[in-house]
Amino acid sequence: MNVQSDKSSVRPVRFAGTGSAVPDPVLTNADLEKIVDTSDEWIVTRTGIRERRIAPEGLVTSDLALPAAKTAMEEAGVGAEDLDGIICATVTPDQVFPSMGCTLQSKLGAKRAFAFDVSAACSGFLYSLSVAQGMIASWRANTVLVVGAELLSRVTNWSDRTTCILLADGAGAAILQPGDEEHGILSLTLGADGNFGSLIEQPAGGSKLPASEETVRNHLHCIHMRGNEVFKMGVRTMADECVKALGLAGYGAQDVDLLVTHQANLRIIEATAKRLGISPEKVFTNIQKYGNTSAASIPIALDEARKAGRLHSGDLVALVGFGGGLTWGAAVVRW
Ligand code: UT7
Repeated sequence: MNVQSDKSSVRPVRFAGTGSAVPDPVLTNADLEKIVDTSDEWIVTRTGIRERRIAPEGLVTSDLALPAAKTAMEEAGVGAEDLDGIICATVTPDQVFPSMGCTLQSKLGAKRAFAFDVSAACSGFLYSLSVAQGMIASWRANTVLVVGAELLSRVTNWSDRTTCILLADGAGAAILQPGDEEHGILSLTLGADGNFGSLIEQPAGGSKLPASEETVRNHLHCIHMRGNEVFKMGVRTMADECVKALGLAGYGAQDVDLLVTHQANLRIIEATAKRLGISPEKVFTNIQKYGNTSAASIPIALDEARKAGRLHSGDLVALVGFGGGLTWGAAVVRW
């Protein structure tokens, strides 16, 4: 690592490695037709999703985060002892506390690393990225593991056809390290509007509605969503946030080589790209095979884009997401 001596300067921060992991079991639209009143045709037309991965009983979120993290570390050439910190974006940690970050730290044997979770639903990876970037930029850390991992299947009401066709399980990870003039995060923006919190929520399990027989019976520990309203907010927010982040970096949508969005719904992704004037071949999607994995979707997409040869050194990459909170964020990266 190229450590500068002037610690009053702000350091650029780059992606040094990415990784991802999904559980093996595949749940197809045909399988869902047997569970709720829906059809493959409706799901594909309305969401673009053809299948998704659902974790088997006994697997916990950190079990998926671990291989994703190890792949990212291997690609970056860092060992557990090199990690200064672990930041996990998740709304479905193994347990409420200790944090999944701490569990992952133990599983990795990353004894030197601080560890914590960030709760920003589907924007969680970008929120976590922002914290890691700030720490590295201000010389408080050199190597930070950022993970987005979810087992949404554990908070899915399998009798609610408006949500169970969307939600799925997966994990993505990235290693962040000091960058240079040519490679790194050029801008990163975040936003939130708590007035719209009830549009996507897990009503019970917190201090407002502690677990009781009634909350369990009424599926209040599952995700409730007003899909149509979230849809409209998603398109507007992701496009606006992308323009904002690109502007801060000194670019416009025409300069983007690859757009990687939160994989919420193919129609949302396509509408966002259209609003931005970015052509479909510059947009990476994998929602067709993984569904909506919340905080995991951007890092999984980023890792798959890298493995598919869609990311080249020097490319201008725009990352953008939105989700529960409501929250949103965007990052512009010179890869
Ligand atoms: O990750 C970030 C947060 N989440 C999202 O970004 C999700 C955003 N929202 C969406 O993706 C879409 O709103 C959905 C996929 C959830 C729903 O699609 P939509 O085109 O907005 O449908 P809708 O809610 O307007 O419902 C249209 C119809 C309704 O029937 P009626 O009232 O017109 O008779 C629904 O009951 O489709 C019905 N419907 C279904 N039909 C078959 C809803 N879900 C299903 C289903 N299968 N699974």
